[in-house]
Amino acid sequence: MRKYRPVRKAVFPVAGLGTRFLPATKAVPKEMLTIVDRPVIQYVVDEARAAGIEHFVFVTGRNKAVIEDHFDVQVELQNTLAERGRQEALDILARALPAPGQTSFTRQQAPLGLGHAVWCAREIVGNEPFALLLPDMLMQHERGCMSEMVELYGRTGGNIVSTEAVPWTETHKYGVVVKGEAVEGGFRLDGMVEKPAAGTAPSNLMINGRYILQPEIFAILASQQPGAGGEIQLTDAMLALARSQPFYGYTFTGRTFDCGSREGFIKANVAYAMTNPDMAGSLRPELEALLREPRR
Ligand code: G1P
Repeated sequence: MRKYRPVRKAVFPVAGLGTRFLPATKAVPKEMLTIVDRPVIQYVVDEARAAGIEHFVFVTGRNKAVIEDHFDVQVELQNTLAERGRQEALDILARALPAPGQTSFTRQQAPLGLGHAVWCAREIVGNEPFALLLPDMLMQHERGCMSEMVELYGRTGGNIVSTEAVPWTETHKYGVVVKGEAVEGGFRLDGMVEKPAAGTAPSNLMINGRYILQPEIFAILASQQPGAGGEIQLTDAMLALARSQPFYGYTFTGRTFDCGSREGFIKANVAYAMTNPDMAGSLRPELEALLREPRR
């Protein structure tokens, strides 16, 4: 028998403006920018599916309708591919598609922060634990970050935040946690702070964008006051929830790419291309030549 209520739903906050990628993101949502041959959001949805998630909740905003189209069938394209006998291409499309009824879309009507975006999913998530995946962060890992977190959750229940070490000079950009005693392959969280001012971070363990949360977070978010950057911060609400519920940390051991930055996005493209057997062979000498001679 299961000890803890299963994690069946995942929330993806995709309302961000993507100003760091203008003009690319003027008409195209940043989540639809491509890493090799898939939009960023597809990788994150695939990570959730691999972890056994059955329902995908997207918190979108204006100008994001193309995300909904991406996770729907494209009948004309499918018909044309079928007429031309392009089975391989049809299979790629089929693999990328959640089953009918597995997706929900709701809109964050104002950019009030991550905590507010998550709160916007409350009606769809309802009274059950849920996964939260921030699509800016791509996690390259054999098994999948969320799969490992769901496994840890099976042993601990409660709430789980994925973490990883970053250089101390980077801590002001992220939420940071304080590591407590080891538990079941994870660790107890002894504290959290959102975007600590430079030189004040209590550790260099950042929150890297993957969470398993209990639904009680919604009631806290409903009255959460703005925090760092004047935004309603999820980290502040988690701190409040941690007073009444267990909170654990999971240490991610794969590679994380912060695709909210241009450098992270480029690194992710190179890294994913290099794990693609069709591309790695021809890319390697090109990359080496580029490194030797960046300009011509
Ligand atoms: C959010 C979270 C932060 C986390 C980060 C990971 O910040 O608030 O705790 O470390 O995502 O990307 P944002 O990137 O939305 O400013």
